[in-house]
Amino acid sequence: MVQQRSVTYVNNTTPLSITTKELDLENCVNDNQVAIKIHSAALNPVDSVISHAANKWLVGSSLKTVGMDYAGVLVKRGKNVDPKFQIGDKVNGFISHAFGDQGSYSDYLIIDPSKQSAIGHMNNFDYLDDDVKARFSDFDINASYPLVFGTAYDGLFSNGQLLNSRSRILVNGASTAVSQCLIQIAKKHLNVETVVGICNSKSFEYNKKAGFDHLIAYDESNCLEKVQSIIKDKFNGQKFDLIFDSVGTSEFFPIIDTILKPRAEGSLYTTVAGSNKLKYTGGLKEYVSVLPLWNYAASWNPRRHYNYTYTMVWPKPAIMELASLMVSKKQFIPPLDSVYPFEEFQTAMDKLNTNQAKGKIILEINKDY
Ligand SMILES: NC(=O)c1ccc[n+]([C@@H]2O[C@H](COP(=O)([O-])OP(=O)(O)OC[C@H]3O[C@@H](n4cnc5c(N)ncnc54)[C@H](OP(=O)(O)O)[C@@H]3O)[C@@H](O)[C@H]2O)c1
Repeated sequence: MVQQRSVTYVNNTTPLSITTKELDLENCVNDNQVAIKIHSAALNPVDSVISHAANKWLVGSSLKTVGMDYAGVLVKRGKNVDPKFQIGDKVNGFISHAFGDQGSYSDYLIIDPSKQSAIGHMNNFDYLDDDVKARFSDFDINASYPLVFGTAYDGLFSNGQLLNSRSRILVNGASTAVSQCLIQIAKKHLNVETVVGICNSKSFEYNKKAGFDHLIAYDESNCLEKVQSIIKDKFNGQKFDLIFDSVGTSEFFPIIDTILKPRAEGSLYTTVAGSNKLKYTGGLKEYVSVLPLWNYAASWNPRRHYNYTYTMVWPKPAIMELASLMVSKKQFIPPLDSVYPFEEFQTAMDKLNTNQAKGKIILEINKDY
């Protein structure tokens, strides 16, 4: 028997807290499952959104565990598990769940890797700067990226996009961790010609370093006119192939014909955040209010001018495979903000909820390695 600490809640009226239970490690997996001792977990806005949306009439009275991104060591495996996963392996990935009893802010995670299939072996980030390696352990770095990398992956690949060295992408929310992954996949893996980012004027240096070719400030006037001017002055009138929104907005739609190529040319508008900016702690009503229901319904109209989709990341091996490929070529630098001890999870979540982090916030759950 081992002690398992987890960050849990019952519903959105109960505060998040660390609860402890006994786990029978010898008998905790079925034939298809693995048990992973978590060393580090990364925070995601969705962790906060889900726990705040847990209306007591909808989610019952069981304890739910927070968290999706993880890195740790495989300590138990069922006999039918893919032989590429063995006891002692260092693994990372993300799980998809809402209100589940298994979450990554916990000592142990028990999952079926054929279902929660965004799981891989940890990568070697030796090429990162020494000051980054001094602040963040291998487990921190490997826990940081699976979900945001996967979201960028889905935004770039999962809707039949054909992006190449002649493509142009507009990113709303250049500074988000999702977009920091997207710019690296777009520029270094797909060799996309031009990526334009919209961010706070104070974040220009951060995003220039990340690889954005042009930046537009959302906190200055005429943001949309500046997008149109770039098309006219820098692209010779050529519009974008992809508009990727990682903030939540509807402001492009009135001018979309002037900035996005027509549907017949395979262009796409996709959001991972909805039709308005979501306050992560706003609860179920706030979440429903940003769902782009009208856009989604209109995307089925055969006479629509443009392709539209709401991208929702889903665990799949291809995400972890592309990340590993890029790491093997030293092409991917995970965006990292800060690291907190497990006991300070609430401070870490408060920082996440400011929506001002520059990269991932990590929880160090077990440092006995
Ligand atoms: N659909 C899915 O499957 C999926 C998966 C993952 C994430 N998401 C969603 O994607 C969004 C981004 O997630 P994330 O983890 O990447 O976020 P994040 O890293 O926590 O985003 C923080 C950044 O947002 C920027 N920001 C704040 N207000 C902004 C505004 N009004 N306009 C533009 N940028 C603004 C800030 O940079 P500045 O300095 O530039 O303001 C800040 O650095 C969230 O809404 C999240 O819920 C969806």
